[in-house]
Amino acid sequence: MYIYKAAVIGAGTMGAGIAQVITYSGLPVILRDVNQEAVDRGLATIRKIYQTRVNKGKMTASELEQKMALVTGATDNSGFSDVDIVIEAIYEDVVVKQKLFQELEAVCPETTIFASNTSSLPISAIASATKKPEKVIGMHFFNPAPVMKLVEVIPGLGTSDETIDDVVLFSESLRKIPIRVQECAGFLVNRLLMPYLNEAAIALEEGAATAKEIDAALVAFGMPMGPLTLFDLVGIDVSVKVADILHDAYGSRATAASILGELDQAGRFGTKSGAGFYDYKDGDQAGLEAIIQKMQTSGGLQETKFSANRIIMPMINEAVISLQEGVASAGDIDIAMMAGTGFPQDKGGPLHYADQIGVDVVLSELQSLAGRLGERFWPAPMLKRMVAGGYLGVKSGLGFFHY
Ligand code: 3HC
Repeated sequence: MYIYKAAVIGAGTMGAGIAQVITYSGLPVILRDVNQEAVDRGLATIRKIYQTRVNKGKMTASELEQKMALVTGATDNSGFSDVDIVIEAIYEDVVVKQKLFQELEAVCPETTIFASNTSSLPISAIASATKKPEKVIGMHFFNPAPVMKLVEVIPGLGTSDETIDDVVLFSESLRKIPIRVQECAGFLVNRLLMPYLNEAAIALEEGAATAKEIDAALVAFGMPMGPLTLFDLVGIDVSVKVADILHDAYGSRATAASILGELDQAGRFGTKSGAGFYDYKDGDQAGLEAIIQKMQTSGGLQETKFSANRIIMPMINEAVISLQEGVASAGDIDIAMMAGTGFPQDKGGPLHYADQIGVDVVLSELQSLAGRLGERFWPAPMLKRMVAGGYLGVKSGLGFFHY
């Protein structure tokens, strides 16, 4: 089915970003939110994205207006009778999403696809409340949606092959890279990204290094931004929710750093609230330092050392566990991490990187970290099998890939 018209529900940063991406590819889109103020904010976000392009000489002012004419703001369901795909980017609550899709099923055509941009809620659960679970699918964009090339395509248990194919083609028409991912908590990218981000937060609260030192080390590794800066971009409130879902699914290895809860309670939600791991108003880090100081003096935290490997190894380990579980192929895991998080292209993604440095090196590094810092670093069983079988990566000609 070709998609001629889309609707995005939720005009926040992600929803507006997704609507901008759709208009950029030339398709009309309805942007709906609960009140006109929220819709206007979303429309202003889209205009600002285009205005930046105009300012850089990448498009003209009249092209901007042509793109803006493709978006219709809405606070009700008028205009939904010919919508081919609905993408929801609303509050992360299964019941709220279920109710939304139930309501929209009544006004949209029989053929409409209902896609959720949820970060980690189960697609099958959202679909279970609808009349046509075969039409419900996960379509997960990454922040900032206009820039990040990845779209995770996540079928639920009842999603039809036709819906999957349609969403893959639609994502390609948006000039994105769709990667099909098996449904699991965190899907693929958040599942791999969160252990990496979380370890950076643990290293910070344990006093292993400052926020700036941690971020600088990972930028030196080649990441486009440091993990603590990325936490602030994604949002501490959003990250706490994702971390809870991962902990619920994967247990103790996914225990969230305590500092995330502290920041959340202090209203330090990241860039959107003006402060998170960093203070964006005056650049003064005293607020963060006071939180860390309080955590350290209240006890229960060990004093540990920092290394970039400490932050990167959990991502590689989770990539191997995900590969073992068949969440995605090795090639797709690497493409997803490069397109969804900017993992350095010269390292080729976490699994190519493991092959470059040696699968045996990854195994012994994880074993050493597990001994020093805890069982969250426990190596994926597949790593031991590979090393025992001589699959050491580039140096032996065989690893996650063939050389
Ligand atoms: N909206 C629109 N465009 C933006 C933007 C935004 N918020 N931020 C940056 N851009 C554009 C710029 O205009 C510029 O466009 P141009 O190439 O046409 O001139 C381009 O992106 C590059 O921007 P900058 O030069 O200002 O900055 P950088 O080169 O440092 O790139 C970045 C910024 C793209 C954010 C980069 O730092 C990056 O890739 N960071 C990693 C982001 C990441 O990991 N995202 C995933 C988070 S996880 C997630 O979203 C899942 C969710 O479920 C939690």
